[in-house]
Amino acid sequence: MICRILLLIILNSCLCAATFVVNVTQSCYQAEENHNITLEWTFTTRPHGSWRQLFILCELIAPPRELVLYQVHDGVEVSEFQDEQFSGRVQSDKDVLREGRIRLHVSRLRTEDSGLYPCDVKTDEGSGSGRCRLNVSAAADVSQTQRPTVDPEPEGPGWIFLYVLLGLTAAAAAALMVKLLLNYYFKAPKSDSVVYQNPEGS
Ligand SMILES: *[C@@H]1O[C@H](CO)[C@@H](O)[C@H](O)[C@H]1NC(C)=O
Ligand SMILES: *[C@@H]1O[C@H](CO)[C@@H](O)[C@H](O)[C@H]1NC(C)=O
Repeated sequence: MICRILLLIILNSCLCAATFVVNVTQSCYQAEENHNITLEWTFTTRPHGSWRQLFILCELIAPPRELVLYQVHDGVEVSEFQDEQFSGRVQSDKDVLREGRIRLHVSRLRTEDSGLYPCDVKTDEGSGSGRCRLNVSAAADVSQTQRPTVDPEPEGPGWIFLYVLLGLTAAAAAALMVKLLLNYYFKAPKSDSVVYQNPEGS
């Protein structure tokens, strides 16, 4: 009998905990330095109207650092605890908060923004947490993608040299042919003229 009651209590608490959830729309984001990104979490909404109490704390965890990104205190957005790293770079969609969406636009991304982003949401009927990961790659990666176009270049002069060499060889061969032909052409009339001159001389 006691066991059954305990089981009921456990089941009830499990059901209660399951009624409030915080999800992420995307578990992992990949972005480049200086670009912008929109991080989004969703949480259970009350069937009729909004929560009487709403506390939200979104942070960046990048060991050993733990920084505050966004905070809602009793339904009101507060920025006094937001870390300097994010100051002026985080904008929230206040309109979608009532629909159970935490939508944060983070602009001018930095590589140090990389890490885990957990959002804890507490309401009068429960609490939950959802986390996503952000990976900001350095803009220096651009030079790496340009490298393949740089690599074939040293081959360029090699090929040009080969073509020039082939061209010169062909030109030399042509010149030789012309010379031989000219020699042949000029030799023949000479012998003719000699033949022609002989009767003239005699
Ligand atoms: C959270 O995700 C689960 C599973 O995908 C889904 O059933 C539930 O509706 C989501 N809840 C919210 C509030 O987004
Ligand atoms: C972050 O992105 C870079 C470049 O795309 C990649 O090499 C690295 O493995 C990524 N790191 C994580 C933790 O996903």
